[in-house]
Amino acid sequence: MLNNKLGMFIHWGIYSLLEKHEQTLMWDEVPHAEYEALMHKFNPKKYSPKKWVRLAKEAGMKYICFTTKHHDGFCMWDTKQSDYNVMNTPYGKDVLKELAEECEKQGMLLSLYYSNPDWHHEFGYNPKSSHQEAAKNQDKEPNNEAYREYIKEQIKELCTNYGKIYTWFWDIPPKVEDRSINELIRELQPGIFINDRGYDEGDFSTPERQSHYEQARFDKMTEACDSVGNQAWGYRKDEDYHTIRYLTQTIDRVMAMGGSYLLNVGPMPTGEIPAKAVDRIKKVGDWYNRMEGCLENHEEEPHKFGITDISDVVINKKDGKTYMHFFHGLTSSSIQIYNWPANPERIRLMNSGKDLPFKFELLERNYPADNEKGKDRLYIHVQEIPADEYVSEPIVIEITWED
Ligand code: GLC
Repeated sequence: MLNNKLGMFIHWGIYSLLEKHEQTLMWDEVPHAEYEALMHKFNPKKYSPKKWVRLAKEAGMKYICFTTKHHDGFCMWDTKQSDYNVMNTPYGKDVLKELAEECEKQGMLLSLYYSNPDWHHEFGYNPKSSHQEAAKNQDKEPNNEAYREYIKEQIKELCTNYGKIYTWFWDIPPKVEDRSINELIRELQPGIFINDRGYDEGDFSTPERQSHYEQARFDKMTEACDSVGNQAWGYRKDEDYHTIRYLTQTIDRVMAMGGSYLLNVGPMPTGEIPAKAVDRIKKVGDWYNRMEGCLENHEEEPHKFGITDISDVVINKKDGKTYMHFFHGLTSSSIQIYNWPANPERIRLMNSGKDLPFKFELLERNYPADNEKGKDRLYIHVQEIPADEYVSEPIVIEITWED
């Protein structure tokens, strides 16, 4: 099951040398020859997949999704299908291979991102889709079939030479159906999960940079993604970094609803992850680790609780315990819970790991016994929640029930 994992998304390519955006080639109309010459400058001497994987691991992340080929068409692995690849840079080594080996060593799952738009390949142009540069070869008709053959050959390399692949992240729906493509991936990587931006409906959906979700629990496998900053996915020098509050709240919400979450960083041309991005990951990780895995592999809470005061709560269940995720924080130091399934044995604030005092109380306002409201006067009063100490993160409460 794909559900409920936190992962690190990594957007890295020769665009990092422009220090702006992974799509600068198109947005700034950089002449192709000038852009493609960037490969001759790509020499990430400080690339340490060991450090990348360790950073992800320490933050509680379980997988890394790496951009093998972004819209610019540059291939970050040793592909035999094109010379436009990392082996022909001054660095001259297969960065994906190095990452895959390190993931294997540190027990990190590896996922691959692959862009359908391709601004380099002769037939990468697809008039049906978005994020398209003018056709590379203006003299010839777009030939999506020939391009799909190229993709298949690359899939064979990516799904054979880099060990087990956890998920496949297609980007930009091609609006062309070809079921044989995902079939090929599944044949080479049994058990893989494929997203819904490819040549058929795939296995899971991919809400992107979204912070509002309507439903209480996803009914389809979902992997949301966002970046540590709100401007670009690739390295950007003057990136506007997200607040820890925003990041932890959205991660909490998505994962409490049963989804997975990919948090992106864009490494610099040196191979290092920018210090501010590292700082975001560490701070998110500090919060995430205090959640003790309660965001992973949980189930829907069938019981309908009544909780006063606050509405932004997602409730789920794991190992018989109930978890209440107040992803926008609390309005006071208490919550009142009506209509509970058994008596609580222990109530704990996950943020601090400490027990919270609670007692059973009767609503002070007295209703006549025959009044509807009078029937439901008993509540669990959870008090002394130090919510002000955790304003930068969601408040998560764990309830252990008596047998
Ligand atoms: C969008 C962007 C692309 C990025 C992707 C990540 O599709 O256009 O640059 O790689 O989001 O999901």
